[in-house]
Amino acid sequence: MKARVIASFAASLALLGNCSVSAADADLIKQGEYLARAGDCVACHTAKGGKPFAGGLPMETPIGVIYSTNITPDKTGLGAYSFADFDKAVRHGVAKSGSTLYPAMPYPSYARVSESDMQALYAYFMKGVEPVAQENRASDIPWPLSMRWPLAAWRWMFAPPVADTPEVAGADPVISRGAYLVEGLGHCGACHTPRALTMQEKALSAADGSAFLSGSAPLEGWIAKSLRGDHKDGLGSWSEEQLVQFLKTGRSDRSAVFGGMSDVVVHSMQYMSQDDLTAIARYLKSLPAMDPQNPPHQYDKQVAEALWKGDDSRPGASVYIDNCAACHRTDGHGYTRVFPALAGNPVVQTADATSLINIVLNGGTLPATHTAPSTFTMPAFAWRLSDQEVADVVSFVRGSWGNKGAAVKASDVADLRKNDMHTTSGDDLGQVTQPH
Ligand code: HEC
Ligand code: HEC
Ligand code: HEC
Repeated sequence: MKARVIASFAASLALLGNCSVSAADADLIKQGEYLARAGDCVACHTAKGGKPFAGGLPMETPIGVIYSTNITPDKTGLGAYSFADFDKAVRHGVAKSGSTLYPAMPYPSYARVSESDMQALYAYFMKGVEPVAQENRASDIPWPLSMRWPLAAWRWMFAPPVADTPEVAGADPVISRGAYLVEGLGHCGACHTPRALTMQEKALSAADGSAFLSGSAPLEGWIAKSLRGDHKDGLGSWSEEQLVQFLKTGRSDRSAVFGGMSDVVVHSMQYMSQDDLTAIARYLKSLPAMDPQNPPHQYDKQVAEALWKGDDSRPGASVYIDNCAACHRTDGHGYTRVFPALAGNPVVQTADATSLINIVLNGGTLPATHTAPSTFTMPAFAWRLSDQEVADVVSFVRGSWGNKGAAVKASDVADLRKNDMHTTSGDDLGQVTQPH
């Protein structure tokens, strides 16, 4: 009944003729809003403490800092953009002015977005987003590196053609939908796929090769680890259900989101429908392991038994007892959905231990989501543990309870401590609210 009243109200508004938003438009705008969440446009196009989508967020590139642009419908933003202009920027990487965009804008992934979804996104950005007057900021890249023509050459060489069909031929429709979201709007590969020296992702889809989502080099102090089927450091030991839980709430019964992934969960994944989360999870679970020989984790109770007996002779054991065991427990199992397990956790066993050193030095806060509003904080240890102690404790968790991560050196910790690493964001996330 209520829906009928609203529908007829909307219809009568539409009949007024000069009203700019009809019921059909309203649906399209709503769909566009959902897709903008899936693409996480807000994460990059909003400065710290700034208005949503007004741009100005500094982003590191190998040649200097660039700033994201204003994509609100103001004249300083996308006000004068036709659908064709918008499409050219988002899927083809070419600005209205004709110059090529830096691939910090993930247009090589967005090339996968369907024409009809582009129409919905356009409707949302033109009619659903509050206009904000804010001039774009020029990059800090000095001339001649700031010339954009080399970007065009890069685009010709590496950007994929814009897709004419979103479906993966022959795939199960759920997996096909998952592929569309992960390879397209979700741009998961922008962080989780390794890049070549020339900075393009080594694969842009599952069909493009096994490098796809096989884990990246450190990005802002974090490793976006492998999402492929490996047991040791991929998602081989995760169930579809655990993946859905993690993407929706930032936590599963074994792990907690941190680093750059926190933004992805908070701004984007928590808003996805149950069907879309299932599609994403099922698709990720369909990616084969890089190393199928690697066996599933086998819990080894020796370390826990030694710690219970008061034997802390293993390097790092006493640092662990004094600083970590209260939350992560001597058996490494943590507390379900509060303090993540370290035993058998693939994030603990990645080849590159940067994320682990970072989280021990700087701590982290498990962010709140709509369906899991409680936050939990791991304290920072940079001020109280030496490089050697951090190396010992990280090596200890990587090699205990059946974990098979390699040891780290004090010099690895010293190098990371020198860099100004970014701690888990989450502090200013509350300010990014949706307009209207
Ligand atoms: C990972 C960060 C990132 C994400 C996610 C992102 N953008 Fe961008 N975008 C950028 C950057 C950086 C630029 C500016 C690039 C440049 O100056 O060359 C940009 C530029 C643009 C432009 C060109 C504006 C102009 O001035 O011509 C449009 C349009 C745009 N983005 C729309 C979107 C939409 C829509 C989404 C979500 C579907 C999105 N962006 C998601 C980083 C991002
Ligand atoms: C801005 C970079 C970035 C983007 C984009 C990104 N991730 Fe992540 N992701 C990370 C980082 C960093 C981690 C490691 C921290 C953690 O495990 O919470 C991670 C971890 C994960 C994990 C947990 C793995 C584990 O074993 O603990 C999953 C699952 C995941 N990402 C899925 C996705 C999916 C699906 C997408 C696309 C919708 C995506 N990520 C996009 C940076 C990113
Ligand atoms: C007060 C409780 C507490 C203490 C003490 C603590 N942690 Fe944590 N730990 C957490 C919480 C909460 C998270 C999740 C943080 C996030 O999501 O950003 C976490 C995350 C982690 C992770 C990432 C695992 C994952 O899946 O998210 C590692 C590795 C880790 N802690 C190791 C340690 C080590 C090593 C120590 C001791 C030096 C330690 N922790 C001390 C609460 C704690």
